[in-house]
Amino acid sequence: MSVVIRAVGSALPARAVPNDDLPASLETSDEWIKSRTGIAQRYIAANDETTSTLAINAARSALDNAGLNPEDIDGVIVATTTPDLTFPAVATMVQHELGVPRGTLAFDLQAVCAGFIYALGVADGLLQARRMRRALVIGAETMTRLLNWEDRTTCVLFGDGAGAVVLEIEEGLDALSGPAPRGIIDLQMNADGSLIDILHTKGGPSRTQDVGHLHMAGKEVFRHAVEKMSSAVLTLLDAHGFTPEDVKWYVPHQANQRILAAVAARIGAPPERFISTVAAHANTSAASIPLALHELERSGGLRRGDLMVMAGLGGGLAWGATLLRW
Ligand code: UT7
Repeated sequence: MSVVIRAVGSALPARAVPNDDLPASLETSDEWIKSRTGIAQRYIAANDETTSTLAINAARSALDNAGLNPEDIDGVIVATTTPDLTFPAVATMVQHELGVPRGTLAFDLQAVCAGFIYALGVADGLLQARRMRRALVIGAETMTRLLNWEDRTTCVLFGDGAGAVVLEIEEGLDALSGPAPRGIIDLQMNADGSLIDILHTKGGPSRTQDVGHLHMAGKEVFRHAVEKMSSAVLTLLDAHGFTPEDVKWYVPHQANQRILAAVAARIGAPPERFISTVAAHANTSAASIPLALHELERSGGLRRGDLMVMAGLGGGLAWGATLLRW
């Protein structure tokens, strides 16, 4: 038995905002943003576009691509740091609006930019334990709602969006052996709470009764992102006797093009195998990996059985990686 990604989908807000359209009061420039981050534009959700509407649209797109109906799903997990409401979970809104059968499990999981990796890990465990057979695993965010639009060191970096996969058990398959190996091989989920202060919001329901704004010590986060994503990837590859060259596609969290280049250099992988959507989407936190995966899938380059690594790091710090055969 193997846990496989059957299909992927995504959704973006209607409005794309290029760097040049950011408020002039920020005293930033297209040149600074592009050269320091690779970001050319970000999508910003309108008032009637929320994390749940993006999640629902991404889930519909994944179901369509899978050729499945909502009744075929028996679990919904949404990775998000920006839920519509403090409670209930966005996942329950997705279940209801999509028409996933009542009574199926549905919950949110918060691991910020590592959220999708954690959600895949938790879903993989529940599928392996046969608590469900087929799940929607979604990363959905409206990070722009957490930004201080007077802080140019953070507000230029983030965007909104959602990506979703249909994850299911496939009987008679193995991820590592057999004629057509396929599925999740292994994963890592890590956190170091001593680093809370370098990336956090100064607010939340229990302390301030509001959501707070995002604060980041950019250079420190950059250094940890390169070190920790690289070591998570190498640990996974080593554990299964693979080298970085064996990996056909790297689908990393999309925070900064320079981070992607630095991870590729550090692990010794060809940089062109790193999928990058930083320019078009900016940093969409838990949504960035499934959004990038959907771009890769639509590019037509992905083949069944391709060895793939996903990796992400964010506030906590929380980070992780997933090794799979497509
Ligand atoms: O998703 C979670 C994970 N997040 C990340 O991985 C983000 C990690 N960090 C980064 O991507 C980068 O550190 C940043 C993009 C946030 C910043 O790039 P940097 O090369 O580390 O720049 P810096 O913070 O050292 O700033 C360099 C200069 C500063 O001016 P001074 O002090 O040298 O005069 C900043 O004030 O650039 C200035 N600056 C800006 N200038 C124009 C900072 N933000 C801007 C801006 N426009 N938007």
